[in-house]
Amino acid sequence: MYSSQQAQQLEKLSKEFLKNNATVSQLETLRDVLRFHEYRYYVVSDPLISDTEYDLLYKQLEALEHAHPERITKDSPTQRVGSTLNASFPTVQHLVPMLSLDNSYNEEDLRDFDRKARENTGLDIIEYCVEPKFDGASISLVYENDELSRGVTRGDGVEGEEITMNIKQVRSIPLSAKFSEYNIQLAEIRGEVLMSKKSFKKYNEMMEAEGLPVLANPRNAASGSLRIKDPKLVAKRNLEAFLYHVSYFTLLENKNINDEKQHAGENGTGNQMPFTTHSESLQMLWNLGFRSPEKEKKILQGIDAVINHCKTFEAKRDDLPYEIDGMVIKVNNLALQDQLGMTSHHPRWAIAFKFKARQGTTILTGVEFNVGRTGAVTPVAKLEPVYIGGVTVSSISMHNEDYIKEKDLRIGDTVLVERAGDVIPQIVKSLPELRTGNEKVIEYPRQCPVCNSNLFKEADEAVWRCINIECEAQVIEKMIHFVSKDAMDIKHFGAANVMKFYELQLLKDIPSIYTLDFDKISGMEGFGKKSIDNLKAAIEDSKQQPLYRLVFALGIRYVGETTAKTLANAVKDIFELEKMDIETLQSLEDVGIKVATSVYGFFQNDDNKKMIHQLQALGLNMQNTKKQQAARSNTLEGQAFLFTGTLHQLKRSDAEAMVEQRGGKIVSGVSSKLNYLVVGEDAGSKLEKAKKINTVRIITEDEFLAMVKE
Ligand code: IVH
Repeated sequence: MYSSQQAQQLEKLSKEFLKNNATVSQLETLRDVLRFHEYRYYVVSDPLISDTEYDLLYKQLEALEHAHPERITKDSPTQRVGSTLNASFPTVQHLVPMLSLDNSYNEEDLRDFDRKARENTGLDIIEYCVEPKFDGASISLVYENDELSRGVTRGDGVEGEEITMNIKQVRSIPLSAKFSEYNIQLAEIRGEVLMSKKSFKKYNEMMEAEGLPVLANPRNAASGSLRIKDPKLVAKRNLEAFLYHVSYFTLLENKNINDEKQHAGENGTGNQMPFTTHSESLQMLWNLGFRSPEKEKKILQGIDAVINHCKTFEAKRDDLPYEIDGMVIKVNNLALQDQLGMTSHHPRWAIAFKFKARQGTTILTGVEFNVGRTGAVTPVAKLEPVYIGGVTVSSISMHNEDYIKEKDLRIGDTVLVERAGDVIPQIVKSLPELRTGNEKVIEYPRQCPVCNSNLFKEADEAVWRCINIECEAQVIEKMIHFVSKDAMDIKHFGAANVMKFYELQLLKDIPSIYTLDFDKISGMEGFGKKSIDNLKAAIEDSKQQPLYRLVFALGIRYVGETTAKTLANAVKDIFELEKMDIETLQSLEDVGIKVATSVYGFFQNDDNKKMIHQLQALGLNMQNTKKQQAARSNTLEGQAFLFTGTLHQLKRSDAEAMVEQRGGKIVSGVSSKLNYLVVGEDAGSKLEKAKKINTVRIITEDEFLAMVKE
């Protein structure tokens, strides 16, 4: 897509624009710079600049376009963000019907497919292109004159819903692509929109923290997201897309081409066609800036090699960042594809090899009701242990009463259980045909199973809650949340220690975490000097966590990580939040009446106020350091840092903030100006480059942490 010369030039320009804002005459160059960084981040997954730097460049573009609206182009990076709600999604016809593939489940099916293909073509051996079968929502995109003109759902295969505005929220899908360089005027391409396992998990954790319904699995998450009426909400789902098939195209210079035969492979003229094999079409898409399975594809001769490859890939399935449910095997040569043609349902040149379902049946033996930190009472199904896709499942959350009713789950039922990757297992359904008559309807408690006080349910919510704030379960869960990784991140503490210390009456509430009596702990089993020192240090370190972590850690209802950041960034210190009324809170981005009311209620509550003052007296950071520039330290003054590879203890954005808070700066690339390259796992080209520059110091994450502690 970008030659190394182009990439270097664009990197250089990014730096210039970060130093001195781009001018209006550089508007298109600035767009190119932003497109380049979107490509690095979303397609290649190897960003060259930090999120903050990207935002700064993006804001420059917004400002320039705001001042010169006549110069906005349709494919400007700013034009993804739709402001209008989609009233409806009109039905449109696909240019070529979106056929589905025939499925195969074992070696024999694949051999059968290959035998027929060989018989039909008269060949002894066939070349296949094998790629993952992405488990998401099917889409088709049309590019006309190099511009994305529409995006459509699969629908019934002939017609689908036009969802262009939502498609534009998928940042790995380019708004424009130079098909003209391949002599193509119009192209229809097919692919799959996905939600990565990580985004799915994060999204559900956020929903759960905010007491909202969770999504069932990444596949449903992707297809549901594409139908959201508000593109801004779609953008927040962090969708991704793989494009794996050029289903139709017309050429710019098509004098020699028979109009009837202008789709992939049927050229009759040979050299004018942009590609003659499927793998070349994937290469073309990749070169045009699409995330095609260019790196994941494998060209193989004959079915034996295909079968081996499918088996190897299946074993790696859980290591992938997204869900796949099989492999797709395609005859590589397009002329052969045409020769093989279609049945009424499926192409004869491709077949899906489906992996074994990660499903199993088991008996629902009982239900436990857990009380969470917000008092929500969650039913948890106890199951006869069942082995699914590498793990034994013996209990599964059933979320709420409605979930149990909708699925008509009863104690004693045989239930179908599914596990998608590293995603939490789900009960798909019960199997009522196997009932004996001895099954018991699940009685939902109306009293808290821990403190026995009455449960309440709000009209617009599905969960029942215990509203006794002294309820032991809530007190414990609040502390567990407080010390957890995404909150105050107090290492070596964890849920088990919270429970243990609580039982021993060493802990009673959040402030007591900071007054732990270590003398009493030191005699306990498993607490040697080293582990006590570690715990002490971790508790002490947590006092300096940024404000947003504290706001999140307080466990305010509906306040997930994102809202906590919004709240913290709006103030100088936590006490400003105490002064905000509901209206002011609602004026913050994405804070609706529900969240605002909850936050207001929390900070007006005397017990909470007391707790915050106690925490302040114990030395916890109450300031938003971003707004407190004067309070910054300067231990890293003038030092340039760059992070590469996967960090294990810190989030990249937090690590970068730590540098900036200490007066250092983050740079986007390896050059002689770089002082420290912090290397995480799987560091790649940046590390290699840095090794060649004597002045760059290469340090590990641990060394970095030691440095910032100093
Ligand atoms: S090729 C005409 N390739 O699986 C052939 N499909 O029924 C076009 N899918 O509807 C499809 N990954 O939604 C193809 N690498 C891949 C795929 C893939 C996922 C989906 C697609 C299709 C279904 C099979």
